Amino acid sequence: MKAIILSGGKGTRLRPLTYSGAKQLVPVANKPILFYCIENIIQAGIKDIGMIIAPETGQEIKDTVGDGSRWGVKIKYIMQDTPGGLAHAIKTAREFLADSSFVMYLGDNLIGTGIEKFVDEFNRNKPEALILLKEVDDPKQFGVADVSENGKVLRLIEKPEVPPSNLALVGIYIFSPKIHDAIEIIKPSKRGELEITDAIQELINMGCNVESFVLDMWWLDTGKKDDLLTANAIVLDEWLKGSINGAVDSASRILGRVVVGRNSVIKDSTIRGPVIIGENTTVENSFVGPHTSIGSNVRVIRSSVEHSVIMDETELSNIERLDESIVGRRVKVVENRRSHKALRLMIGDDSVVEV
Ligand code: TTP
Repeated sequence: MKAIILSGGKGTRLRPLTYSGAKQLVPVANKPILFYCIENIIQAGIKDIGMIIAPETGQEIKDTVGDGSRWGVKIKYIMQDTPGGLAHAIKTAREFLADSSFVMYLGDNLIGTGIEKFVDEFNRNKPEALILLKEVDDPKQFGVADVSENGKVLRLIEKPEVPPSNLALVGIYIFSPKIHDAIEIIKPSKRGELEITDAIQELINMGCNVESFVLDMWWLDTGKKDDLLTANAIVLDEWLKGSINGAVDSASRILGRVVVGRNSVIKDSTIRGPVIIGENTTVENSFVGPHTSIGSNVRVIRSSVEHSVIMDETELSNIERLDESIVGRRVKVVENRRSHKALRLMIGDDSVVEV
């Protein structure tokens, strides 16, 4: 079995972060989201991985991920010239996939479990497709499946007005090569994309067996701001193991599971885990609260921050309380000492500032 990871797309919902980089490389607990996808695929025993990339962000992804040798696998890059939809991405990867069955994994999706049991189930029952589903509160926002009692998929509907169930499609699928025939038949949707839901519906119309598996663990689409913060909190909660490799002075308190990276310095501060702090970062006279990831080469001075993601080379200085925030790379958030009333901002397009 092979796998393709979709790391192209537009990333409009995660602007402004996606103006300067790929959303699949945004860090969750200081590790790019994409790495969790790659590691999950490898854990299922798959060694042949195709990475779909876009012209704008493809080079950054190549530079960060490499050829796969660090994981002992082969990663082949496949350029998708336009973000023509998930089924279009499969079409673009046709030559790489050849006649193999394959996992399709969206590069911005995180799930709280491995995928080996789904791969095993696919290999055992040999359906034409196996899709993962998750119960959600607001099915109208998602692709939704109508499923029979034994898990056979009867119908798929994209963002339904009247949802037939609360089972949303998770961004992880397994297909037999029959999916290529279905993709040849479908036409672009109203938004101009070749939709994977249409291709799977076509398989059902052709009389093929489409199975489903309902996830009982968490699933997050980190392409949205709130899901990104939730993903960061859950990953820190569930997977972080504390380790102090930097210097913590005797006036500081480390509570709970905390990672402090090499050459980082913690002075006169309280760090309440779960918290991860990268390398060469300074935290001074500050409080870093639970569920916070701070990158490398960051300075946190006389500030308080919790439930947040602070990326590399950023500076927080004299900030009384920062909460539920995502701060990109090379950002300065500092108190303006000249005028207590006025805010002085230099903020890019699509930023959100709540004061
Ligand atoms: P989406 O999040 O559905 O699409 P998008 O990246 O264009 O984002 P937005 O809606 O915020 O504008 O895509 C899911 C994943 O699939 C994501 O990792 C990007 C990737 N993708 C491709 O690789 N090619 C494509 O043609 C599309 C639509 C998405």
